[in-house]
Amino acid sequence: MTTVSARPITGHSPEGSPLGSPWPASARSVSGGELLVGGVGLAEAADRFGTPLYVLDEAEVRARCRAYREALPQAEVLYAAKAFLCSAMADWVAEEGLGLDVCSAGELRLAAAAGFPPQRMLLHGNAKTPEELRLARRLRVDRIVIDGLAEIPRLAALAIADVPQRVLVRVLPGVAAGHHAAVRTGVDGQKFGFRIEGGDAAEAIERVLVQPSLRLVGLHCHLGSQITEVEPYLAALDRLVGLLAGIRDRHGVELPELDLGGGHGVRYLPGDQELEPADFAARVTERLLARCAEYGLALPRLVVEPGRAIAAPAGVAVYRVLSVKHTADGRVYAAVDGGMSDNPRPALYGSGYTVRLVGRGSGTAPTRTDVVGRHCEAGDVLVHDAMLPAGLRAGDLLAVPAAGAYQLSMASGYNLVGRPAVVAVRDGRARLLIRRETVEDFRAREVGR
Ligand code: LLP
Repeated sequence: MTTVSARPITGHSPEGSPLGSPWPASARSVSGGELLVGGVGLAEAADRFGTPLYVLDEAEVRARCRAYREALPQAEVLYAAKAFLCSAMADWVAEEGLGLDVCSAGELRLAAAAGFPPQRMLLHGNAKTPEELRLARRLRVDRIVIDGLAEIPRLAALAIADVPQRVLVRVLPGVAAGHHAAVRTGVDGQKFGFRIEGGDAAEAIERVLVQPSLRLVGLHCHLGSQITEVEPYLAALDRLVGLLAGIRDRHGVELPELDLGGGHGVRYLPGDQELEPADFAARVTERLLARCAEYGLALPRLVVEPGRAIAAPAGVAVYRVLSVKHTADGRVYAAVDGGMSDNPRPALYGSGYTVRLVGRGSGTAPTRTDVVGRHCEAGDVLVHDAMLPAGLRAGDLLAVPAAGAYQLSMASGYNLVGRPAVVAVRDGRARLLIRRETVEDFRAREVGR
């Protein structure tokens, strides 16, 4: 770990004006157009570490973990590592008392190597490799989510009755929710989970229950991602509690856990809705109490798996403008040094973002500008119709908030541009967490020609 900036930022008033969501709570605009996050100037960080740069506000991650713990003191909160994972992130989440939801051997190994206890992890995935299951067993991952019939004997063979593997069965509550069809996973007709309708879920449950080396501890579902209303969770809860009652009636067992997955939405644009942990907690808890009372069931422990809601608001992406093109038909394209290789979300889902000039005063009136990436595709547009100063020029810095989830974790090696560096900021200090990927990293993987 390299602490590169231990100096206080100079020349700015320490207070500045808060920017508000979707920027991190610590974001302050100060004199000269500088923007402080975690007390660190983004322009100064860009000069020091280069661009594109991903800045993670450690206090924002921690505050968001704490908000979940406080809102759901009886529940188990697992951070969904797929949103973004590195060793520092694993540390923060562990220290704040959350567990971890992992979906691959890579996430599992990285977190375990960082010291995250596997006994606080849950592994899920629709296509786990035999090696992943073996690794999970060897490291004693606490729970594994069953997502296919073939997994049941495979996992049963790896476990032994003396030390049974705790499992959940992933079911489809038949609830459609989420920002894009590609992430709506709670409905029939896609690859995840077992349908309740038609008996697939009942069959999986039965097959798990007869395995002496597996212990069924609950039901799991995940509706989708970037959900901003509580209603879909209530609808799913109704279906799952009904199924819990059915299992009790048929098999005489009351399962102690109910995992509602993740999907909690955040603000990307200033007017966006977000799912408030406190509101979610109050309404889900009330509904769970009511439904369990109706069926005469003991209250299962609630499990939630927020990823984006913990990581996205803590991240800010900083790009340098490489060129500004004004066309005869009145369009303005500001091309930056990143793009779909560090943030594929606009190209994949049409996701919207906001963007702001940092590092100098704007001076000129805002004009409609498309912030485009540097990749060889017309669809490589990071922000459509951004309002940026008319005098924007090459060399300027642009910052994009809500960049902490599903950007770095989905970043690619396209055009061999290399994935960006990641810096953590806290109390006016910045430290490099992940260095920029270079062509030497690509070359290092080449072992033949
Ligand atoms: N649990 C399960 C089983 C999941 O599949 C996911 C996300 C989560 C939890 C966490 O969901 P979150 O709270 O972060 O929404 N690449 C897409 C998002 C894909 C989410 C996949 N599963 C995007 O950029 O919007």
